[in-house]
Amino acid sequence: MIAKEELLKKIVGHAKEYGFVFPSSEIYDGLSATYDYGPYGAELKNSLKAYWWEAMVKMHENIVGLDAAIFMHPTTWKASGHVDAFNDPLIDNKDSKRRYRADVLIEEHQEKYRQKIAKELAKGRKRFGDSFDESQFLATNPNVIRNREKVEQIDARYKAAMDANDLAAVKELIIDLGIADPETGSKNWTDVRQFNLMFQTELGSVAGDASTIYLRPETAQGIFVNYLNVQKSARMKLPFGIAQIGKAFRNEIIARQFIFRMREFEQMEMQYFVKPGTELDHYAAWKEARMAWHKALGLGEGSYRFHDHVKLAHYANAACDIEFDFPMGFKELEGIHSRTDFDLAAHERYSGKKLQYYDPEAGESYVPYVVETSIGLDRLFLAVLSAAYQEEHLEDGSSRTVLRLPHALAPVKVAVLPLLKKDGLPEMARKVIDMLKYDHNCQYDEKDSIGKRYRRQDAIGTPYCITIDHESLEDQSVTLRERDSMKQERVGIDALSSIVADKVSMKTLLKQLP
Ligand code: GAP
Repeated sequence: MIAKEELLKKIVGHAKEYGFVFPSSEIYDGLSATYDYGPYGAELKNSLKAYWWEAMVKMHENIVGLDAAIFMHPTTWKASGHVDAFNDPLIDNKDSKRRYRADVLIEEHQEKYRQKIAKELAKGRKRFGDSFDESQFLATNPNVIRNREKVEQIDARYKAAMDANDLAAVKELIIDLGIADPETGSKNWTDVRQFNLMFQTELGSVAGDASTIYLRPETAQGIFVNYLNVQKSARMKLPFGIAQIGKAFRNEIIARQFIFRMREFEQMEMQYFVKPGTELDHYAAWKEARMAWHKALGLGEGSYRFHDHVKLAHYANAACDIEFDFPMGFKELEGIHSRTDFDLAAHERYSGKKLQYYDPEAGESYVPYVVETSIGLDRLFLAVLSAAYQEEHLEDGSSRTVLRLPHALAPVKVAVLPLLKKDGLPEMARKVIDMLKYDHNCQYDEKDSIGKRYRRQDAIGTPYCITIDHESLEDQSVTLRERDSMKQERVGIDALSSIVADKVSMKTLLKQLP
C-alpha cells in the first residue's frame, strides 16, 4: 500500500512519464494550475466524456445535448449573480505570505472532527461485531456527539457570518478555532477579503466597460440562455434535461493539488428542467442516479460519500457534493444543486424576454425549476487515475506499476505483440490489428523482451495484450493476457473480437447502470 501523501506525487510523476498529463508550457517552466493532456490522457479524457455523455444523452430519451460558446453576452453574468457574488473569501498569512481560502481552512479544521467520528465508528464496529447498530452508536456515543456538535457549531457560525457578509466574523472564527497556516504553523492572519473568480477580457479592439466580457466560470449559463431554443427545436416536454461538456475558467486563489483545482478546466453539466414544486423529488432521484453512475466504475464503494451543503449558493434551495477519497482525502468531485427558477427568472428580468414553458397538461405557463448535476472532468480523471494506480510485488520477486483502469476507459484497449521481429510474426500482428482497430484503440509493439512490453502496457492500463508466436502461424491462435490477473490463455484469432469487445466496450459499463 502506498501512503496517501506519497500517492499524489507518484501519480504526478507517472502521469508525466507515460503521457497522461504534462505541466502546461513546461519549456517556459510551466504556468501555475494549468495542465496539458498527453496522448493517453487525451484518450482517457475522451472515454470519460463518452461515459458521461452516453449515460446522460443516449440512455435518457428526455435529455439532449448542447455545445454553447465560451464567450457570452456580459449581461449573462450580471443576471446569474456571478459579477456580484462569485467570490471566494481569501486570507493571507502575514509571516509565510501564503494565500488561502478562508472557507477551505475552516472546512479542513472540521474534517479533523469528522475523522475522529469515523475512528470512533471503526472502533465501535470492531468492538460490537455483527450486532453493531450504526445509527444507535452515532446517536448515543458521547465522543461522536461531542465532535458532531463541534462541526455543527462551526457550520452555524460560518453560515451566519457569510449570510451577513461579515468577513470580520469569519476571521474571528479562524482565530477562535486556532487555525494555523498548514504549511508553517503561523497564526498571524490578515483580514478576510472577497475575491471575484471570473477572468475578464476585451471584445474586439475597443477597451472599456462596454466591451468587457468574461471567460465563462461554468457551462450552465449557456444552457439557461438556450433553454427555449432547445425546448422548441427538439420538441421537449417537462421534465427534460440539457447536457453539455465544455471548458470553464476560474481565477482560483489557491490552485494546488495537480489537476484537482485548475484555472482552466472542463465541466460536464446537465440542467434538468422540472415543474415547480417537484424539484426536490427530482433532486433526490438525481442524487441517487449520479452516485450509481460513479459506483459503476468500480473504484470502490467506500470511496464516495455525500456532503450536504449548509451554506447554500445564492441560487440553490438544496445542494450536495459527491465527494471522492482523493489522495488528499475526501473532496468534492461533483455538485448536485436544486437551483430553483433563480437563473431563468433572472435572465427573464435582465433580457426582457419571456422564458416560460407552456404546460399542456396543466394548461398554464410558468418558468421551470432546475436541478443541476455538475461534475469536473479533470477531477474525475484524477479520481480514476488515483484509484487505478498500483505498485505490485509479484510472486517471481519482480514488481510492476499497473493502472487498473476500468476496462472501458483504458486509453489503449489491446496491444498486439509479435514475439519476434521476423518469420512473418509482425505481418500477422498487423493483420490482427487491422481486424480489431475499427472497434478498439490498438497498439503495435515489437521492441524489447515480451516481459518489458507487458510492463509498458500495464503502466498505461491496457486491459489486453495479444502475443503472436510461431504456433499462431500454424493454428491461427494467439496468447491473450489480461492486465489485472496477468492470466494468459490461448484463444483462436476469430474469437478475439467478441472476447475483447465483451470486456472493454462502453456498452458493458453502461449496462451496469440501474
Ligand atoms: N454550475 C455549477 C457549478 O459550476 P461548482 O460546484 O462550482 O458548480 C462544479 O463546480 C464542479 O466543477 C465541481 O464539483 C468540480 O468537480 C468542478 N470544478 C470546479 N472548480 C474547479 C477547478 N478550479 N478545477 C477543476 N475542477 C473544478
